Amino acid sequence: MGLNVVKHNYKTTKSQRELQHGHKAYLLWFTGLSGSGKSTLANLVEVALHNKGLSTYILDGDNIRKGINKDLNFAPEDRTENIRRIAEISNLMLDAGVLTLAAFVSPYLKDRGEVKQIVGADNFIEIYVNTSLEECERRDVKGLYKKARAGEIKNMTGISAPYEAPTNPDFEIITDGQSIEDSVKEVLTFLNNKLK
Ligand code: ADX
Repeated sequence: MGLNVVKHNYKTTKSQRELQHGHKAYLLWFTGLSGSGKSTLANLVEVALHNKGLSTYILDGDNIRKGINKDLNFAPEDRTENIRRIAEISNLMLDAGVLTLAAFVSPYLKDRGEVKQIVGADNFIEIYVNTSLEECERRDVKGLYKKARAGEIKNMTGISAPYEAPTNPDFEIITDGQSIEDSVKEVLTFLNNKLK
């Protein structure tokens, strides 16, 4: 599109904002199957970081899809657009100097690669919440797997739509047979080393 749009450079910079917040602004990207525990994990990690005085914000699939992305469904091209918009929102959050946690199924490798590109590789931390399909289906907190098996939901990740697991995540957490408290501790230990 040939839009006559010119980027305006503002005087307050990202690094000045980061300095004011007292830390660098990273994007912590939690990916995994529906029901893998991404949002629960991201939520508890945010509580811990917030309590330490860090400026944080959380973006979550179910919430974003009720608002800015309510026009999108779960067809592959809609998921791609979902993730693209979230990447742009995350980029604004990072520019604001806020440590951002994002919890999205984000099943396509290519889409997650785009996020990394949009926000910059140095700012992107991919956390693979590796919970087996069997375990997600056993929990079935939202009853979606049951509906998908009955053919009432189409394009269900893991059942009738693919999940492309990260090949080289910054951190992988295997939650099967582990308490949520232990998972939170593992992520926080990883982050403490990373954010030092
Ligand atoms: S993504 O694939 O585009 O990244 P997103 O994380 O925004 O998905 O939304 C996933 C959430 O939507 C799931 O946690 C689940 O509650 C709900 N959902 C509804 N239908 C589906 C479906 N067909 N596949 C996956 N998740 C679905």
